Amino acid sequence: MTNTLTAAESAAVSTPPSTVTPTGESAGHAAPAPDIDPNLVEAFAGRVITDFAGAAATAMTLIGDRLGLFEAMTGAGPLTAPELAARTGLQPRLVREWLAAQVVSGYLTYHPGTDDYELPLEHAMALSIAASPAFVIGAAEVIAGQYATLNRLESAFRTDGAVPYSAFPETVTHGIERFFRTAYTHQLVGDWFPAVDGLVRRLSDGARVADIGCGHGAATLVMAGAWPSSEFTGFDLDERSITVARSRAVQAGAPGNVEFRVADADAVGGGPYDVVVFFDALHDLGDPAAALRRARDLLTPGGILVAVEPWSTDRLEDSIGNPIARLD
Ligand SMILES: C[S@@+](CC[C@H](N)C(=O)[O-])C[C@H]1O[C@@H](n2cnc3c(N)ncnc32)[C@H](O)[C@@H]1O
Repeated sequence: MTNTLTAAESAAVSTPPSTVTPTGESAGHAAPAPDIDPNLVEAFAGRVITDFAGAAATAMTLIGDRLGLFEAMTGAGPLTAPELAARTGLQPRLVREWLAAQVVSGYLTYHPGTDDYELPLEHAMALSIAASPAFVIGAAEVIAGQYATLNRLESAFRTDGAVPYSAFPETVTHGIERFFRTAYTHQLVGDWFPAVDGLVRRLSDGARVADIGCGHGAATLVMAGAWPSSEFTGFDLDERSITVARSRAVQAGAPGNVEFRVADADAVGGGPYDVVVFFDALHDLGDPAAALRRARDLLTPGGILVAVEPWSTDRLEDSIGNPIARLD
């Protein structure tokens, strides 16, 4: 397929239908045709195809994550397709196809002379090294879940206007946890919280904290580990997520200062709280304003509200092209 317009195609887009009668004759008195710039058409169509290519390639990237292909290549140096297939116990022909897909996406390096493939360490930090500050592969699971619920979303537009979190496959909540945990682990304690006046002092002294829309509790557990004198309660409407959050707490050694409860954001109880936090959750709520009103009611006088939101802007026009705005 090519995204270059032929001369005939350029002529077609330059000659809008309004200048032609239904019989195909030229209508001399028709309104002047709006100018269509074929170069802009070509550039835009190319951009759309590039977006589609990224969406299609993400499926193969996720396959590499699920099957441990990136992991097997991490730190392994150059590998041939049969070597990678042998290491992973996977179907050799499909492994070769997968490698080719990753090479054309620029995720792997290909050495034609030796017909082998390599995962640069810098790329492994995004794709396969979970402890890295650049580990972002979890977002691919979220994208896959969006496609899996496309019919439900279509019907929401026609009917009730909502897709509940429970309609998403579990890969979505796991993807959210994996994607966002990277920032919580590397930035919450050292960067974000010290930037809020008085917050670290209050947590160090011992505060009651509500984490609303806590999901699998990734941020809740990071906070609980960093400030053992404080008590943290994670709330989420999604029962599956709260079950996972409780199991994550057990995996983290069952800290005594954390608990998780099922609750709607605008009906959270158990207050008052010295600190209320929303981590990447406020914009997901059906009624963010009601949740903020509830948070205000739950806070002690002089309490602190923290909302961590994806990188976005107040004015729509300032977010054009922002990849995080497009993702979220
Ligand atoms: C993008 S996730 C963020 C989860 C978690 N804070 C994190 O950063 O990993 C948004 C969360 O909001 C929760 N949520 C959505 N609507 C809610 C509501 N009305 N009340 C409470 N939680 C809600 C979802 O179940 C989901 O776990």
